[in-house]
Amino acid sequence: MSKKLPTVWDCPPHTLVKHKILEGYLGGWFPILASWNDRIVYIDGFAGPGRYTGGESGSPIIAIQRYLEAKEKGRLKGDAFFIFVEADAKRCEVLRQEVAAVAGSSVRYEIECKPYAEVMDGIWKMLDEAKAMLRPTFAFIDPFGFSHTPFAHTRRLLSNPATEVLFTCMYGDVNRFLGVTEMEGHFDGFFEDKDWRRLRSITAPDERKAAFLEYFRKRLLDAGAKYVIPFEMKDAANSTQYFLLFATKSIKGLKVMKSAMYAADKTGGYTFSDYTDARGPTLLVASPNYPALQRLLLERYSKQSDVRIEDIEEFVLAQTSFLYYKKEALAVLEEAGKITASKRNGKHRKGTFPDGTLVTFL
Ligand SMILES: C[S@@+](CC[C@H](N)C(=O)[O-])C[C@H]1O[C@@H](n2cnc3c(N)ncnc32)[C@H](O)[C@@H]1O
Repeated sequence: MSKKLPTVWDCPPHTLVKHKILEGYLGGWFPILASWNDRIVYIDGFAGPGRYTGGESGSPIIAIQRYLEAKEKGRLKGDAFFIFVEADAKRCEVLRQEVAAVAGSSVRYEIECKPYAEVMDGIWKMLDEAKAMLRPTFAFIDPFGFSHTPFAHTRRLLSNPATEVLFTCMYGDVNRFLGVTEMEGHFDGFFEDKDWRRLRSITAPDERKAAFLEYFRKRLLDAGAKYVIPFEMKDAANSTQYFLLFATKSIKGLKVMKSAMYAADKTGGYTFSDYTDARGPTLLVASPNYPALQRLLLERYSKQSDVRIEDIEEFVLAQTSFLYYKKEALAVLEEAGKITASKRNGKHRKGTFPDGTLVTFL
């Protein structure tokens, strides 16, 4: 596993990308969720010290700043309660100072200098005693390895109606230790399942990675997520260091996260992963392969009439690596005479596909 870093450490490029994704998502999440909930909860389960040696902000500071921004713009009805968890005493002390410096008096937060699992146990106990549900929550679970994130907590988080999880899944470490007998107990907890053992017998690296991703994605779906999207973070040697996995029940949340990942992808050679059943091509940085998306749509809806645009959008967002599809695919197919469109109420204008549009695949 990772060697011990100092209390505050240098910010590597992939962390900047991860933060760009978090920042992009929260910029959309706070206004959406807090505009129709009195109270939302933000949990940063592995908060870190709040800043890096070069002065870059850590995840807790990014979250507070996005929240304050949305608040200043008057885009929130309710407020948020932040829970920052950091087990290392020295990092926790730095975190206290960093958070106090940005939070002012208008942000409600708690800093827990304890292990994540202990804090989560306490939260579940409190909720059980009060017979209460967790408020709509965004949980960022960003550990160094895989030993301190029992899946039981992720499952319980996702069992709540409006809870989303962004999870750093350290595939590099998982892959390295999969065959180590002494680690079995950790893996049983990490997956909350014993079926991971079958991954050991897969020796081809790409095959094992794909099988792992599919297995973990399935665990998240079984836990209550409706959509799971991964973003693959590679190291300088181009091998997978971790997957950022986003799990949600909300198509709106999925769209905001995909936009954030899409924007972050433009910053370098990081990629969405090939997470569909081999249908969606990996999204390659500057120019997504839209002819491939056109083919996918023709194949998926072959000969179907009056397909709702909302269903097409869900397919594109949840089942492919693409984000944009109207101008990029549907308009092209319409121009080529491969689809026709109409509107539930009103007249269809060629090349436009607003809500209420019905598409027929010829
Ligand atoms: C990857 S870093 C977090 C970085 C931070 N989320 C960010 O993006 O700026 C992981 C942090 O988790 C802390 N940590 C390690 N084990 C922990 C545990 N069991 N519970 C909570 N925090 C832990 C480490 O001290 C470290 O600061």
